Amino acid sequence: MDRTNEEQDNMPTSELQNSAKAGEPEADEPRRRDFIHIAAASFAAVGIVASFWPIIASLYPAADVIAEGTITVDLGPIEPGQRITVEWRRKPVFIHHRTPEEVAAARSAPLLSLPDPQLDRDRVKRDEWLVVVGVCTHLGCVPKGQLAREPRGDYGGWFCPCHGSQYDTSGRVRRGPAPINLEVPPYRFMSDAEIRLG
Ligand code: FES
Repeated sequence: MDRTNEEQDNMPTSELQNSAKAGEPEADEPRRRDFIHIAAASFAAVGIVASFWPIIASLYPAADVIAEGTITVDLGPIEPGQRITVEWRRKPVFIHHRTPEEVAAARSAPLLSLPDPQLDRDRVKRDEWLVVVGVCTHLGCVPKGQLAREPRGDYGGWFCPCHGSQYDTSGRVRRGPAPINLEVPPYRFMSDAEIRLG
């Protein structure tokens, strides 16, 4: 019940103090409300981060994916003229230890007659080593020619039996429907006898 000013003037001091204390909760009310709002906002923030965590986590590659992305290849056992295939990022990669004759054949190709003109020296880091992804650029077949007994086409590189594309000793398309040369993957020499792919 409200008291008039005159009634309050006549109230004992102790009653006035009690009356003031009775009003304190109203003064504290904003602070409690602030706390409730802050707490609610914090829970909401945690909830949002938690709900997005699978998406955030998926932005970081798993350790096995990182490991798979880089492989080291020992070139020591590969004789001149030999070719080996390694798997890198689930794709075959052809590594060809070229003979001087195979290098010369690649260098003598008339550049302007190539469907995808590219200098041999721009496709290799060292003359004797060619490294290309072994996937035909037409529709994705794996070309023949890694084994000496397989057909290599008219240019001594690779022959794709799916629709007849032919690649030379630089992995460049020379004939058939393949639109571009075999891809050169990212790699670097770690030593004279070792490369790292990826
Ligand atoms: Fe190689 Fe068609 S997939 S020629």
